[in-house]
Amino acid sequence: MILVTGGAGFIGSNFVLDWLAASDEPLLNLDKLTYAGNPANLASLAGDARHIFVRGDIGDAALVARLLAEHRPRAIVNFAAESHVDRSIHGAEDFMATNVTGTFRLLEAVRAYWRSLPEGERAAFRFLHVSTDEVYGSLAPDAPAFTEQHRYEPNSPYSASKAASDHLVRAWLHTHGLPVVTTNCSNNYGPYHFPEKLIPLMIVNALAGEPLPVYGDGQQVRDWLYVQDHCAALRRVLAAGRVGETYNIGGHNERTNLQIVHAICEALDALRPRADGQSYRVQITHVTDRPGHDRRYAIDAGKMERELGWRPQETFETGLRKTIAWYLAHPDWVAGVQSGAYRDWVAKQYGQREAETAQ
Ligand code: NAD
Ligand code: TYD
Repeated sequence: MILVTGGAGFIGSNFVLDWLAASDEPLLNLDKLTYAGNPANLASLAGDARHIFVRGDIGDAALVARLLAEHRPRAIVNFAAESHVDRSIHGAEDFMATNVTGTFRLLEAVRAYWRSLPEGERAAFRFLHVSTDEVYGSLAPDAPAFTEQHRYEPNSPYSASKAASDHLVRAWLHTHGLPVVTTNCSNNYGPYHFPEKLIPLMIVNALAGEPLPVYGDGQQVRDWLYVQDHCAALRRVLAAGRVGETYNIGGHNERTNLQIVHAICEALDALRPRADGQSYRVQITHVTDRPGHDRRYAIDAGKMERELGWRPQETFETGLRKTIAWYLAHPDWVAGVQSGAYRDWVAKQYGQREAETAQ
């Protein structure tokens, strides 16, 4: 089996669903269920014995050691993190606790387990660390896209904490020999995306008649990757990625934030027109810019293509269409997230206890 951390979050839950759709290999899902972890993302796995869910912290060394000894995973995919830049600006404590200290403790627990494995299993073991292109900092408008050689220049508390975790992972290979692989991907989008991030926030606010808040001039560029393309890339890296290597994963879809918001408005104008017949664009408002806002990210995913034969399957147009269709088809999921109903459910289901359930 494999151990996935953070598998109730946006990318993690897509990965868990994809994994169990593509193979019968069981999966242990360790997730703290912070505000970003939503068990409803995994509701379709109810009763599926291949999925074992444990509520817990990657920084809980005793828990992780026990889970590793009991379940004996052959690989770990580490998604668990605090992931939202704006939250890291308001307060970075949780980012340091999970992304830095949590990753350190996880690495230590995994190292002890890995050393105890018989030789063949030790050689085949993998620790796949999921990171971000934001560790590379901000690109000038005409600069070439980030390659794996690009210097680390993190600018936000979030990206600094992820950069720190990447360095720890690297050090655990070089010093301790732990067989790690790191991926740095661009902005993901798709189903189960928490509506604090740009694309789901704009879809949800548009439908609710709320303002569409564009930070600053809206000319910042991100390179959008459909989440299922990312999951396929991670499966490839786990299967064939070389130990100690870094792989950049991107969507070949650079867009300004304003282009994104306009595309969402146009799609919704066609699929779910406003009652007054006006375009959703009338809801766009420009608000104060994010402090330290990175201007441009772009990924050169050439190594993924050359070495592992991976390319994204979705264009931005097809991916955005699927994403908007998913949000239109899942108003209950959106309502649950917005009302905090899932937080109440988490409190009722788990209380303060750590819980282990087949979902
Ligand atoms: P998310 O915020 O949606 O989910 C994070 C998950 O981790 C949640 O389920 C949360 O409960 C869990 N978690 C948080 N702290 C934990 C802890 N201490 N122990 C166990 N679980 C914990 O994040 P996401 O968007 O799914 O991102 C997943 C990973 O991918 C992160 O490492 C993030 O840095 C990276 N990443 C994300 C993007 C993106 O566009 N979303 C882009 C590049 C990289
Ligand atoms: P976000 O989804 O938070 O991802 P990241 O900051 O990790 O790239 O934001 C994507 C871009 O959208 C970023 O340039 C900030 C901008 N943005 C807005 O303009 N308005 C918003 O309400 C949000 C959440 C983001």
